[in-house]
Amino acid sequence: MRALVTGATGFVGRHLLAQLERPIVLSRDGARAERLLAEYAVRAFSWDAQNEPAPAQAFEDVEVVFHLAGEPVAQGRWTRAKKARLRDSRVTGTRNLVRTLAKLEHKPRTLISASAVGYYSDRGDETLDESASPGKDFLAEICVAWEEESQKAADAGIRVVNLRIGIVLGSGGGALAKMLTPFKFGLGSSLGHGRQWMSWIHLDDLIGIMLFAARCDQIRGPINATAPNPVTNRQFTKALGKALRRPTVLPSVPGIVLRLGMGEFASVLLASQKAIPRAAQAAGYEFVHSQLEEALQDILD
Ligand SMILES: NC(=O)c1ccc[n+]([C@@H]2O[C@H](COP(=O)([O-])OP(=O)(O)OC[C@H]3O[C@@H](n4cnc5c(N)ncnc54)[C@H](OP(=O)(O)O)[C@@H]3O)[C@@H](O)[C@H]2O)c1
Repeated sequence: MRALVTGATGFVGRHLLAQLERPIVLSRDGARAERLLAEYAVRAFSWDAQNEPAPAQAFEDVEVVFHLAGEPVAQGRWTRAKKARLRDSRVTGTRNLVRTLAKLEHKPRTLISASAVGYYSDRGDETLDESASPGKDFLAEICVAWEEESQKAADAGIRVVNLRIGIVLGSGGGALAKMLTPFKFGLGSSLGHGRQWMSWIHLDDLIGIMLFAARCDQIRGPINATAPNPVTNRQFTKALGKALRRPTVLPSVPGIVLRLGMGEFASVLLASQKAIPRAAQAAGYEFVHSQLEEALQDILD
């Protein structure tokens, strides 16, 4: 399977590359990406996703495109400029990718494009499979527009899969790396009322679903990339404390304190999404890590 990956220098992308043979990479800085990713023998091309169509010459013999590029959501304050980058890197970036795909004489068969459970916004205890309606906040609107842009590739005969990714848990980056320091100092505590649902996924299962979706022609459209057993924030806090053998006895951090400290990004930490991977399981994907405690142990031991 000849694959091209955007956002390959990121947390998810690097782990995906390890499973691919001689992958092609599109990066904002191709030379830097080739240096950073030398161990994966990548061939990299430069692409300014927000301002130009993807370079057509990168797609020679490419069968599947994994599109992961996007301004980091959980890094830095959400200023007006940051919000514009969050949106444009995904929506305009995907438009600029699909523009090229649609014009290629030999098109890839499949586009696996990232999205997020942020699509659903803040939904309390509602169980969310892929048929659930979208939410209406900033991230939800980005996800809707991001998916819509990617779906235009379907008009060009390409099978499109939208991965609604949950909180990715793995070593060496992502959400867990950010949580570890306070927890290791015994300062881990739940956030807000702690009843909000967290749809998590082990990084190995995310890569597993991506490769499964690339090979399984019956999968198309949205697919929740989340473990079958989401947990509340309070359960997550307890499980992480237990895995690290550290107490989690502090009172929860009130939502207002989070909002004062983090601004609008706090709403992401307080939002409740109880997503279930109905499409992935219906297609036959078998999760390696379905329970949070075991998944955390696997990552942290
Ligand atoms: N990690 C999670 O928990 C999670 C959850 C839900 C959804 N997702 C989505 O899954 C995708 C991959 O996640 P990740 O955690 O691997 O992300 P990441 O580590 O932040 O990496 C994303 C990559 O996108 C490129 N990028 C960054 N800013 C950009 C910009 N302004 N314009 C264009 N490209 C930019 C970078 O590649 P270059 O520097 O090489 O260009 C970067 O390595 C993202 O789209 C993310 O929104 C992730």
